[in-house]
Amino acid sequence: MNILKDEPYGTTKGFLLSSAAWMVAGSLAGFIGAVEMVAPELLGNIPWIAFGRIRQIHTNLVMFGFVGSALVGAAHYLVPTLLRTPLHSERIGKASLWSWNLAITAGVVTLSLGYTQNREYAELIWPIDIGVLIVLALVFYNFLQTLRRRKENLLYVSIWYIVGSFVFTFFTYFFGNAVWNPETGSIIGIPDAVLAWFYGHNIIAFFFTTLAVAVAYYIIPIVARTPLYSHTLSLIGFWTILIMYSHIGTHHIIQAPVQTWLKVIAVTGSIGMLIPVLTVLVNLWLTMRGRLGNIHADVAGKFVFAGSVWYLLTCLQGPLQSLPSVQRLTHFTNWVVGHAHMGILGFAGMTALGGVYFILPRVTGRSLYSARLADIQYWLILIGMTGFFVVLTTAGLIQGNGWLNGEVVYRILPEIHLYMVLRASLGILIAGGAIIGLYNIFMSLYGPKGETS
Ligand code: HEM
Ligand code: HEM
Repeated sequence: MNILKDEPYGTTKGFLLSSAAWMVAGSLAGFIGAVEMVAPELLGNIPWIAFGRIRQIHTNLVMFGFVGSALVGAAHYLVPTLLRTPLHSERIGKASLWSWNLAITAGVVTLSLGYTQNREYAELIWPIDIGVLIVLALVFYNFLQTLRRRKENLLYVSIWYIVGSFVFTFFTYFFGNAVWNPETGSIIGIPDAVLAWFYGHNIIAFFFTTLAVAVAYYIIPIVARTPLYSHTLSLIGFWTILIMYSHIGTHHIIQAPVQTWLKVIAVTGSIGMLIPVLTVLVNLWLTMRGRLGNIHADVAGKFVFAGSVWYLLTCLQGPLQSLPSVQRLTHFTNWVVGHAHMGILGFAGMTALGGVYFILPRVTGRSLYSARLADIQYWLILIGMTGFFVVLTTAGLIQGNGWLNGEVVYRILPEIHLYMVLRASLGILIAGGAIIGLYNIFMSLYGPKGETS
């Protein structure tokens, strides 16, 4: 078997299937973590799935494995299509695909064995970091060469976002993981907290957010069957997200003894984020105006539309919770976990799934195996995610209230127990959706010819 086989869109197909598989594994890991929060002794304290480890396995699998693979796969479709030029090298693409999956697999094994650098979203140990950096460099090189040979002169905004994402993510990953310090992957003291959240924030900003926006910008006009409302607005959104989003990671550590000027920049920038966010959303929604019927008749359009609504909600909540007075209540509570799921699953994840279902028929040349299963997956995830939002936000407010009243943590735990049970139950919907998705995506790629999409 030639794993580097040169076939059109082979890289994209590989990334889309990987995303589906990692979504199943990652959701199940999240479910195990959720069960442990309901009944800590139930799973018998098995070391490799102890909460501290399974949580890191969950976040790495769902973020890089599920959402990351889908977005990178989508980028491998968007770049050649928008530039009207075949991808420079499917072999390099395949090499990135296999190295990416190897890095994620190695990440799961090492994290389960307890090898971690313990900085959020930067847990993977040094050799794996190097693997990830190599993948990012390979993808960037492949896109750059495709750009050089392009037949299309006009660079649609999705191309700007994709190329920008890979430049930024490479440097964010390099500096954020302090790769020059293999032992710890960190620097010392408070500057490390600032660096860690420069990383944690910018990986969300310039990997997940910008790639998801690139996908939404591509899919919405096609599904709505009308040109983008405004190319000028799309570029204003692009440059303002670069200006506003890149240096506000300190809003994650407002309550740490970090320099005040840095906090002031973080909070004002967080409010300024409303400019790029609303610019993108207004542009997408005005493109859809009067055409919601088209969007909702297409499962890919539905996913991307729902993603855009979650983007709005996440980004209204974000500036609010960056205010010190609000964060005093919400920080260190499930409110933030709710926000994280809204952003990564509701916005980036649902948009990425829209990308998957949009691209699959176009790279296989036949309809989806089952549009109905995709629709069921959509509803399971939408209901599960909405439930997560309600349950985790409520639990967070109860915790925050206890926090402000000086209650000790163990007194609050019984009060949020019901919410933890509900969260675990809702997780079954999302994990179920992931399993259905894997089956559907696998069958769309390798199964018999499907029904109409
Ligand atoms: C498949 C899509 C999912 C995505 C993209 C996702 C994403 C995330 C992220 C980003 C975090 C870190 C939160 C933070 O640090 O604030 C997290 C934590 C967590 N997620 Fe998920 N998640 C997904 C599905 C699930 C499912 C199905 C469950 C099952 C109930 C689940 C349960 C958890 C738990 C228990 C935590 C740890 C929360 C804590 O430390 O208090 N997640 N997830
Ligand atoms: C206007 C845009 C946004 C602003 C101003 C914002 C602000 C914030 C703030 C202040 C926190 C820290 C809360 C705390 O620890 O008390 C946070 C956490 C988080 N945000 Fe956002 N957010 C925005 C959009 C997004 C988006 C679009 C995503 C996902 C694509 C996202 C993902 C996350 C995640 C995963 C965390 C949890 C980090 C952790 O583990 O502690 N955010 N956000």
